[in-house]
Formats: sequence, structure tokens, C-alpha cells
Amino acid sequence: MRAAPSIETDVFCPSILREIEECLARFVHDSPSTPRLREAIAYALLGGGKRLRPMLALRCCEASGASTKDAVEAAAAVEMVHAFSLVHDDLPALDNDLVRRGRPTVHVAFGEAMAILSGDALLALAMHAACSTPRHPARIAHEITNATLAMITGQVYDTLGGFSESMIARERLHFVHNHKTGALIRCACRVGAICGDARAENFAAIDHWGDLIGLMFQAVDDLLDVTQSAAHVGKAVGKDADAGKLTYPSVYGVEATRHEVSRLRKEALATLEPLGARAEHLLAITEYLAARTR
Ligand code: IPE
Ligand code: IPE
Ligand code: MG
Ligand code: MG
Ligand code: MG
Repeated sequence: MRAAPSIETDVFCPSILREIEECLARFVHDSPSTPRLREAIAYALLGGGKRLRPMLALRCCEASGASTKDAVEAAAAVEMVHAFSLVHDDLPALDNDLVRRGRPTVHVAFGEAMAILSGDALLALAMHAACSTPRHPARIAHEITNATLAMITGQVYDTLGGFSESMIARERLHFVHNHKTGALIRCACRVGAICGDARAENFAAIDHWGDLIGLMFQAVDDLLDVTQSAAHVGKAVGKDADAGKLTYPSVYGVEATRHEVSRLRKEALATLEPLGARAEHLLAITEYLAARTR
């Protein structure tokens, strides 16, 4: 029997990560903007990060039977929306965070006005990248636009509330997490499958998988906020409770959150069955996302 792929050397393998970085850097370099704006965009986009979303797009494209190369521009577009969401998430009016990816946040390094404007520019650049995809550009742009609106909707409820009185805490939590984080993760998986021309049955499996791991991702992020150090995760921790955020640990408790992560992991693994051996990297990503500590 073949050994399961290693997350560092096989799934997030250096040559594919390099292709992602090169594509992101190319779009930044070619963007028509002032030097200071380009500097802020580069700081936000090229300054590290796990590159989970672009890797999901590439691996879902591959699991659909195509080459990872078919989804590079679409993958870059999703990462640009993610970078925009982080720059704005850290602003004083939202989470007011000073550290991201182990460095000062964009508003600390460049000022609040430039943080707002560079976030805006990253979104425009994402649309440019989406429209530059060689495979189904209009569909990709549509998918990314819808996911961006869902993410912003989640951020509105996360920051300002406004839920209907009839929603109980668990429903509110699922709504926020599925929107603010799940939508873009699921979108990364969907655009990968679209670029890979996935058959209907495989597309449905990848879409459902993306939905489950998107929710699991934010449940784990909430856990990390209460269980890890700031030095380890590269951003502030222990802030969600103080800020009165609706999180998995605040609604379910830490132990029940761990059970929920394990339930989502199992369900996500089962969802991949129709893909057979092609799902090898997606299985490894599921395990990694359930166990990650940063
Ligand atoms: C952080 O996302 C924001 C959330 C949606 C929880 P990541 O943990 O993927 O951030 P980077 O890109 O690796 O920094
Ligand atoms: C972030 O959620 C969601 C988006 C950026 C859209 P969090 O606010 O929990 O993310 P971190 O913990 O700051 O990375
Ligand atoms: Mg936030
Ligand atoms: Mg935040
Ligand atoms: Mg968080």
C-alpha cells in the first residue's frame, strides 16, 4: 500500500506554492497603481500566509481530472479576495488588530486610509485575475463575486449583529461562519472544479466537501484563539471573548467544539468517496485542517 501524502512535501509542495507566489506577484507587478499603493498591496498579498485557498483551488482542479496549471489564475483571484478580507478585518472599525502573519497589520504599517484603499484595490485585482483565467472566466468571476458578497455579509453580522430575534445562538453562529469564512473556502473548491471541468457527480462532492471544511476551518480558528499563543499563530489571540464575538467555544464550549470539528472531519472525508483515488490530496488536506495549530 502507498503511504498517505505528506501535507508539506506532497500537498503544499514547494513547486506548486512557487507557481502560486509567482502568479500573485505578476498581477501585483502589472497592476496600474501608484508606487505606495502597490507597496501596500504587495505587503498584504505577498507577505506569507498558508495559501490554503489557492491550494484548494489547484487540488480540486486536479481531483477533477485536470492539471493544477488550469486553475492558477482563478486560485490567485480567490487569494486576493482573502487578502482584502484580512486587511479590512484588521481595521480599527472591525477587529482592530495590530499583528497579522507575525507582522504589523496593513493599517499599522501604512495608515488606515491606505489599508482601506489597498483592500479596495485587492478586490479589483481579484476581478482582473478572475477575468484572466483561461478556463470559463465569466463563471469564475461570477463565483468569486457571489462568495465575496457572502463574506462581506458574514463580516457585517460578525461586526454589527442584526440577527432576527427568532434565530438561536447556534443558528447565528453557523450563519456567520458559513458566510464570513466558509463561502470563500467553498468558492476556492468550486472554481478549481470548474477550471477542471469536473463531471456533475464530482462537482457536487467537491462543493459539499468545500462547505464542510469551510465551517470546520473557522471552528478551528475560534479554537486557536483560546488555545494557542500569539507568537505561534502570528496574530492576536484571546480577543474573541473580550470582543463579545459569536464563536464555537463561546456557544458550544471547548470540548464540544473539538467534537464538532471531529464530526465535520468525518463527514468531509466521507463526502470525498465518489472521487476515489483522485481525492488523495483532498483527504490529506481534510486531516491537516482538522489538526492544524496555526
Ligand atoms: C484567517 O485565514 C482568517 C480566517 C478566515 C479565519 P487563514 O488562517 O487562512 O490566514 P492566512 O492566509 O494563512 O494568513
Ligand atoms: C475572519 O474571521 C474572517 C474574515 C477575514 C473574512 P476572524 O476575524 O476570526 O479572523 P482572524 O482571527 O482575525 O484571522
Ligand atoms: Mg473578524
Ligand atoms: Mg479578525
Ligand atoms: Mg479568528
